[in-house]
Amino acid sequence: MNHITGDTSVAEIVALCPGARRIFDEHGLKGCGGEHGPSEPLTFFAAVHQANLDELLREINTEMANPSAQAYVYKESLQDYIYRRFFKAGVAIVLTLGCLWGAINLLQIGFGKSFLQLRLLSSIHAHAHAMIFGWVGMFVMGFAYQSFPRFKNTTLWRPALANLSFYLLGTGIVAGMLADMLLPALASFVLGAVSGLSEITAVVIFMLVLYRTARQSIEPHNPYEKFIASSFIWFLLGTILEAVFFFAKATAPSEHGVIMRIALIDGPLRDVQLLGFAALIIAGVSQRFVPQVYGLGKPSHDRQTMIFWLINGSLVLNIISYVLLLTTHNFYLAIGLELAYLLMPLWAILLAIQIGVFRKPTQPDRTFKFVRAAYVWLVIACGMMPFFPLYGALTHQVFAHTYMGSHRHAFTVGFISMMILGVSSRVVPILAGIDAKRMNSLWAPFVLFNVGCAGRVLLQVLTDFVPNVAYPLIGFTGFIELTALLWWGIELWHTMNVAKTGRTKLLTAPFPLPAR
Ligand code: HEM
Repeated sequence: MNHITGDTSVAEIVALCPGARRIFDEHGLKGCGGEHGPSEPLTFFAAVHQANLDELLREINTEMANPSAQAYVYKESLQDYIYRRFFKAGVAIVLTLGCLWGAINLLQIGFGKSFLQLRLLSSIHAHAHAMIFGWVGMFVMGFAYQSFPRFKNTTLWRPALANLSFYLLGTGIVAGMLADMLLPALASFVLGAVSGLSEITAVVIFMLVLYRTARQSIEPHNPYEKFIASSFIWFLLGTILEAVFFFAKATAPSEHGVIMRIALIDGPLRDVQLLGFAALIIAGVSQRFVPQVYGLGKPSHDRQTMIFWLINGSLVLNIISYVLLLTTHNFYLAIGLELAYLLMPLWAILLAIQIGVFRKPTQPDRTFKFVRAAYVWLVIACGMMPFFPLYGALTHQVFAHTYMGSHRHAFTVGFISMMILGVSSRVVPILAGIDAKRMNSLWAPFVLFNVGCAGRVLLQVLTDFVPNVAYPLIGFTGFIELTALLWWGIELWHTMNVAKTGRTKLLTAPFPLPAR
């Protein structure tokens, strides 16, 4: 084959014409796909890198007809593989300190037949810390360091500094979890300070590296970037608040004081981290990545700006109303809170429509089911919130902890984690130069993850009505989710190792399993 078309894979083109790699690099390929380049067709490359296909074809065909004299030497550098250490840390943390730890907590909740066991608080907060920074944080930072320079057609500013943020984040997570578990020992104050400083520095470095990377780029600003920028501001705020939360608990004068401080800070803190940082980064990346990668086309009405203000506006209204309601007990503030809750399903539905996850993909892939399911879970999680006050009134609870916990799980596992599973399983094979069509369909972890999440969301609410049935069963759901994560995690880890060691090893590798 001497003539290249849109269906020819990047790997085939590079094999036929090594000099074409230089052209791909100019459009942001850099180290993607390893030495041989990704197995994706040229049309896919053009769509994802927002390059003009006809121009690309012309340039490559010219290079083929007249190869440049200078040979192209492929060399992998830190900025090409930095994502691997973040993703591997994320997988290791979710399987151990995150989901396994959470599943053990849940089992204890099941045995004790109560979600409100004071002795479990430190352990639950340590789990939340690991999940927010070690699971969501690691994946977001790894993905951003890898993809952002390529989206902006430039190179990562100071990869060594980005690398430092990895170690700082890791230190912060371990120190923070130890600090929570060792309270009220004196050592926990030192560990809490180490954790706060390390994590805040890591996030500041992360923001600085991406800001300077963006400044190097001559590409025009894209509207989706405002989602990403505001997500990072919420990330920094959530990191500072995490340290404030720890010291507020550590310095409370009594057990009652601890509970009052948790009641005041915990809700806004988790909202900043989940509805601010995580939701906005997913919304931003989804708009840049999902329609192009799965071929979903453009929305008939562009509501990007409206969605941006709805997410941020409802979050600010939520936090202000909640804090003022709790401190002043002025009942009218509950109206503001309810309004914020009503806006949540609105932005969730508009976002799903904007991205087009319910349209038929023209480039279906084994990971699309994760992305679609994530948005279904987002709509469910956000759709629960307007009924939160009503649920509390009907069940005679001032704050219906079970209902809020159920909503949170739908959001953190159903939406955020499902999205991490789907996007990472789509991106990592491309970066490793592996043809995803030859890989495992991932149906088993997908079904298990959904079953575990649905079981937890339903059973947690049911503990208010049929505790003798719901509590003994709920403990299993964490282990169902853990099995799903283990299944997905082994495959992803293995694919990353193939990326590291070269594609020839794939031939002898038992994972990823070829699809039949
Ligand atoms: C994958 C399986 C998971 C299990 C078994 C699990 C388990 C738990 C349990 C038992 C609680 C306490 C529930 C309550 O008090 O209502 C909890 C709370 C929490 N979890 Fe998870 N979780 C999992 C995944 C996640 C993920 C993926 C995230 C973040 C992305 C996350 C973040 C949180 C947060 C923020 C809290 C609230 C902590 C607080 O009260 O401040 N969890 N989890």
